[in-house]
Amino acid sequence: MSAETIAKAAYIVAALLFILSLAGLSKHETSKQGIVFGIAGMAIALAATIGYATRDVAAVAVVLLVIAVIIGAGIGLWRARVVEMTGMPELIALLHSFVGLAAVLVGWDGYYAVEAKGGAQVEVAQNLLRIHHAEVFIGVFIGAVTFTGSIVAFLKLSARIKSAPLMLPGKNALNLGALAAFVALTVVFVIHPSLGLLVAVTAVALALGWHLVASIGGGDMPVVVSMLNSYSGWAAAASGFLLNNNLLIVTGALVGSSGAYLSYIMCQAMNRSFISVIAGGFGIEAKTGDETDYGEHREINAEDTADLLREASSVIITPGYGMAVAQAQYPVADLTRKLRERGVDVRFGIHPVAGRLPGHMNVLLAEAKVPYDIVLEMDEINDDFPETSVVLVIGANDTVNPAATDEPGSPIAGMPVLHVWEAENVIVFKRSMAAGYAGVQNPLFFRDNSQMLFGDAKARVEDILRAL
Ligand code: TAP
Repeated sequence: MSAETIAKAAYIVAALLFILSLAGLSKHETSKQGIVFGIAGMAIALAATIGYATRDVAAVAVVLLVIAVIIGAGIGLWRARVVEMTGMPELIALLHSFVGLAAVLVGWDGYYAVEAKGGAQVEVAQNLLRIHHAEVFIGVFIGAVTFTGSIVAFLKLSARIKSAPLMLPGKNALNLGALAAFVALTVVFVIHPSLGLLVAVTAVALALGWHLVASIGGGDMPVVVSMLNSYSGWAAAASGFLLNNNLLIVTGALVGSSGAYLSYIMCQAMNRSFISVIAGGFGIEAKTGDETDYGEHREINAEDTADLLREASSVIITPGYGMAVAQAQYPVADLTRKLRERGVDVRFGIHPVAGRLPGHMNVLLAEAKVPYDIVLEMDEINDDFPETSVVLVIGANDTVNPAATDEPGSPIAGMPVLHVWEAENVIVFKRSMAAGYAGVQNPLFFRDNSQMLFGDAKARVEDILRAL
């Protein structure tokens, strides 16, 4: 059997393992198995690629490749071990930028291997040359958009730059203009490839990626991250065409389409237009967080909260990003157990974008061994708030903001939220009156039935446990 046949067979096995991995990851019960399939697929893919690509290259190249793999794997293992759950989204955004950069480099390499040599002396059949030109150009474009877009997402998610949308005058015209320039440049490049055109498309795409993500505002960032995940898949698929590697094409398409589908589901959950978000907030007008005076807020302490909970018949806990920051899930799980032992009906209400990544709250609660059956999705629990004695809002803000339903001018207007304010009593755990991720004031804090329990969420829940 030739080396090529073995490599192709291994690629098919790896592609099947990746599909099984995605299927496994879609459910709690099978997610670990999904990860094992993914690791196995990637190990086979790497072994086959290295084995096949190095079959007739100099020994020094093989050594360099192995060193690169060892260094990369070492950094990957180290980052994966030390990253906090709250830092996952920004790490993912950074990793997407590498995929984008790799696609740009592969595209440029393709240009130097074929187009720069006039295309005559190289292996590519003359009739396929134009397709090669298009592959180089499209691969560089998608890669460069993904590269700068992911860097901006990383900077926003890690709070190194403000998450508010950048509102350049004529921003939609800028995006459309960049797309039109890309199409026109592609046509010219396919007819007359030149270095100048490649430089031009790289520059246009880098600027477009930066602008697309910079124009998307705080609350819509979850969609952006999954959209960049999708773009990174298409960038990898484009590289697969250039490198003539079927596995890269299949894997890229899997990542591209699953990322696009996830973005679509998130847009539905947040009542946002999919097209508008992927087009960099196309059609969304600048809305400013208003300065409405909502009046005074009331404060409560841990002992009084414990008293309220003692009297309660039903409690709903709505966790958010602050629970992850405080690592409050363990005392929250203890509190749940204690209240349930006393006969209180305790349930959790999970907003689809609570925290900073899909399923963030579910993972934390599962880690702290909260039973799955009392952890409900927003739609399953939203009608039950009026019959609830106490709601504990633990480090959540945007996801429980009534402005989303009551104030059409709010930047988060239209986003479905947990209707916590309909309960008898609402206790909000946070450290200050600061706004949440979207940077909007929350009128919930000033409602008559709301009280603020200030301080670190973990410390406050532990205080309540002691008082109980
Ligand atoms: P946020 O609106 O982000 O609010 C979190 C609140 O937690 C803050 O107001 C903060 O107030 C409080 N907090 C932080 N550290 C705390 C601590 N140690 N103890 C107590 N409180 C603490 O939270 P959310 O309701 O979960 O909403 C998520 C937001 O993130 C949405 O806007 C969503 O669009 C966005 N987002 C989500 C995702 C995904 S996929 N889930 C990805 C990116 C962005 P203090 O500073 O006053 O304590």
